[in-house]
Amino acid sequence: MKSVLRGIGSYVPDKILDNHELSLRVDTSDEWIRTRTGIIERRIAAPEQSTSELARIAAQKAINSAKIKPEQIDLVIVATITPDMAFPSTACILQHQLGLGKVACFDLEAACSGFLYSLDVADGMLASGRYKCALVIGAEKMSSILDWEDRKTCVLFGDGAGAAIVMTDGEGPHLMGFRSGADGSNPSLLHQPAGGSKMPASISSVENREHFLKMNGKEIFKSAVRVMEKATRELLEANGLRTKQVDHVIPHQANFRIVESMAQRLEIPIEKFFCNLELHGNTSAASIPIAFDEACQKGIFRKGEMGVLVAFGAGLTWSATLVRF
Ligand SMILES: CC(C)(COP(=O)(O)OP(=O)(O)OC[C@H]1O[C@@H](n2cnc3c(N)ncnc32)[C@H](O)[C@@H]1OP(=O)(O)O)[C@@H](O)C(=O)NCCC(=O)NCCS
Repeated sequence: MKSVLRGIGSYVPDKILDNHELSLRVDTSDEWIRTRTGIIERRIAAPEQSTSELARIAAQKAINSAKIKPEQIDLVIVATITPDMAFPSTACILQHQLGLGKVACFDLEAACSGFLYSLDVADGMLASGRYKCALVIGAEKMSSILDWEDRKTCVLFGDGAGAAIVMTDGEGPHLMGFRSGADGSNPSLLHQPAGGSKMPASISSVENREHFLKMNGKEIFKSAVRVMEKATRELLEANGLRTKQVDHVIPHQANFRIVESMAQRLEIPIEKFFCNLELHGNTSAASIPIAFDEACQKGIFRKGEMGVLVAFGAGLTWSATLVRF
């Protein structure tokens, strides 16, 4: 039994923050950001828009595209590192906003790999036979945890949400296999130090800007290329496929140079990689479903083609999904 992506939808906030505008806030330039990352602009949520609000709009689009009734949904998973609050889960908040039944809801935290981890989990829960229709969402308000005085990180990220309806029957891309993993040996490579039980909020944690995202960019870059290549190879091998047989790759939209390096190492032509990071930056767990939705809208997939969705993120986590369109 293979899960089917019955519908997909995405939403990004209206406000565009381009590199020029950013260069008025921090010591950076359009040229530096473009050449080092490929990013030109990103969307920023309004102050009153929380992650659940972004998720709700994307979810409604996915429900419409799947042509199902909201009452059919019996499982909600929200992948996010920027939940509305530590608890309750953003999935529970969203359940009420969408007027769903009193169904199972939880958040999944695997950073930028979160959406693909959630597909992996949803597929397993559907295969158990205990659930029939999953709403899987990646949603982030990254602007709420960025240090707008740190040019090394604030230029990279954006806000948005993408959602999918996953069922075990019907028409749509089939989810053929998954490969998820993690290496927790060096959590401080990419983290938000304060606000949890290790460093609860205090005057000094705020003064020291410990509630913002911190990253070792160089190390993350190297790990990203390595783990996305490995996850893709292992996924293909487990499913009896070779890289030549891949028609499309939708990679995590972090940095175009990461995508280029991965393409080279996998010997998959760069033209097969779908990228929209120039318009959104890195939207963390939302990046893959937003890219998937935009690629669908552009009509780039043909029936029967094979695709790989692959992501990496804080943890470090990684996850790859094989799709037959
Ligand atoms: C962040 C990243 C773009 C930096 O690129 P890089 O080529 O490694 O750049 P470096 O960190 O070596 O910085 C080079 C110089 O540019 C400067 N710099 C950093 N950010 C800058 C910015 N926004 N504008 C201008 N200069 C900047 C640095 O201070 C450094 O100057 P120095 O040599 O005088 O110290 C790159 O490492 C990267 O993309 N890493 C992966 C990040 C990622 O994907 N994170 C999300 C994971 S899900």
